Amino acid sequence: MNILAVCLGNICRSPLAEGILRSKLDNTHHIDSAGTGNWHVGESPDKRSVSIAKKYGIDIQNQQARQFKKEDFTNFDIIFVMDSSNYQDVISLTKNDEQKNKVKLILENADVPDPYYGGDAGFDHVFQLLDKATDKWINKLELK
Ligand code: 4NP
Repeated sequence: MNILAVCLGNICRSPLAEGILRSKLDNTHHIDSAGTGNWHVGESPDKRSVSIAKKYGIDIQNQQARQFKKEDFTNFDIIFVMDSSNYQDVISLTKNDEQKNKVKLILENADVPDPYYGGDAGFDHVFQLLDKATDKWINKLELK
């Protein structure tokens, strides 16, 4: 399965989602992440995301931010967005129901809060939310 995690900047939440999914799935699955915005393209994840991932044994420091692109609808089977604003942004680029159906809120009926302007506790909270959500999806989609 090809899985893409999407947030706004691709430096805080979706790099964590990518790292957590990678840590739980074997490499028959292709995992990536992207941002709807382009401000941080080429950058490493935010150092607070790098350090919270490291605390839980996951190395995300070599990821590089990129912007979401229309080809992602073809290249990925499922597109996990972090919040309803990401959902609107990605849905606005879809051409048909097949593309729309690939886009899922990772928490299903809640947003992963954007931790960018907050403190370290926000990053731990995001990690915990994503850790639980990815377990649920892995079960639901029978990814292992
Ligand atoms: P992310 O967090 O969407 O989880 O990567 C953000 C990172 C940067 C900005 C906003 C959100 N920004 O406005 O630069």
